[in-house]
Amino acid sequence: MRIGIVGLGYVGLPLAVAFAEAGHDAVGYDVDRSRVDLLGGGESDIEDVGSERLAALGERFTATDDAGALSDCDAILICVPTPLAAAREPDLTYVRESAETIAGVMREGQLVVLESTTYPGTTREELLPAFERSGLKVGEGFHLAYSPERIDPGRSDHQVAETPKVVGGITAACTERAVAVYSEVCNEVVPVSSPEAAELSKLLENIFRSVNIALVNELAQLTDRLDIDIWEVIDAAATKPFGFMRFDPGPGMGGHCLPIDPFYLTFKARQHDFYTEFVELAGKINQSQPLFCVSKIQGALNDVGKAVKGARVLIIGVSYKAGVADLREAPALKIIRHLRSLGAEVSYHDPLVPRLKREGLESVDLDAAVADADAVAIVTAHPGIDWDDLIARSALLVDLRGVTRGDDHENVVRL
Ligand SMILES: NC(=O)c1ccc[n+]([C@@H]2O[C@H](COP(=O)([O-])OP(=O)(O)OC[C@H]3O[C@@H](n4cnc5c(N)ncnc54)[C@H](O)[C@@H]3O)[C@@H](O)[C@H]2O)c1
Repeated sequence: MRIGIVGLGYVGLPLAVAFAEAGHDAVGYDVDRSRVDLLGGGESDIEDVGSERLAALGERFTATDDAGALSDCDAILICVPTPLAAAREPDLTYVRESAETIAGVMREGQLVVLESTTYPGTTREELLPAFERSGLKVGEGFHLAYSPERIDPGRSDHQVAETPKVVGGITAACTERAVAVYSEVCNEVVPVSSPEAAELSKLLENIFRSVNIALVNELAQLTDRLDIDIWEVIDAAATKPFGFMRFDPGPGMGGHCLPIDPFYLTFKARQHDFYTEFVELAGKINQSQPLFCVSKIQGALNDVGKAVKGARVLIIGVSYKAGVADLREAPALKIIRHLRSLGAEVSYHDPLVPRLKREGLESVDLDAAVADADAVAIVTAHPGIDWDDLIARSALLVDLRGVTRGDDHENVVRL
């Protein structure tokens, strides 16, 4: 088959590679010329796809900014961003642009699948009308489905093949066609009765995580007052062999998904006079967590007789999670801004993020910076950092990820 992928980011690139590695021709279309040049030259900037892996695909993977290349594809999979607009409402600009682009080059017999996370109804309301203008009938002249991407960047045990793929077509024939295409690269494909069911299943997964993370973050704020170690509590609860699923507190939720996707549902619900209170509450608690963490750093400095104003604070890890360079919605950025507004001199060390352009900061050498810092705060626990060594060399260490748990040290303050 010839598979067109629209959007070659964290989601689209691994998917294109999976199809190419399965022996199909993958045609990646992206509006970002610099990405097209980079990927076309065999270089990858997405951690899950090494450059050697990309280069090994040879002719089976091509990157282009010419949408015409999509016209002879058997299937076109849309993997473009679905952010929130300024008023925290869904911004479907990229999805609509993709729909128009595809409508301009579409030919009879093609399958189009939306993979971007969105509210239930998007595939039917936004994509279907654009494609039907061609005069072709859905389920006959072309096929249309929704299939949520569930990839977790940085996770090696569940990549495209090992992550079951949910698929919901506009018609039964659309579902059947999409199941056949994804079966080429996924060990298990899970058909559902409609695109709406598939769209909502993805939001349920993300909201489930957001609500549970909010629950442990709220508990961490409470155990701070009760002087109980939240990590000990969670470790103990997690020994229950059934009915409990572990979630860890942290400095706040980041990434392109959890802080954003739940509000796609809130928007849709409001159109039906319905208020998704769990979503709102979880969002409120998770968004307050970075500020709680700043107060934790402030309190730790206070306990050793230092004010935040003028203190040298070293942040360890600024990407939103360990092992990736993604800065989208990263809580470290909020923590840095807030510490600076209180007068702290902030520096950071992150092996994956060489600079923070907006903050005017560059990642500093770990050894020298630790020796110089009044407080070191672990915000993202990247692999490869020696935590015992950090404990030994920090004047004051604030651990917001629980990497020091189980050990009590006078210079360590934990979330
Ligand atoms: N990153 C994740 O962990 C993850 C996981 C599951 C689902 N998702 C969802 O997948 C979708 C894509 O996310 P991502 O992280 O891959 O985004 P990304 O920003 O990494 O990549 C998106 C790519 O789409 C390109 N693009 C934008 N408009 C385009 C257009 N009109 N035509 C062609 N290309 C266009 C951009 O240039 C960019 O390269 C989002 O809906 C997201 O919510 C993301």
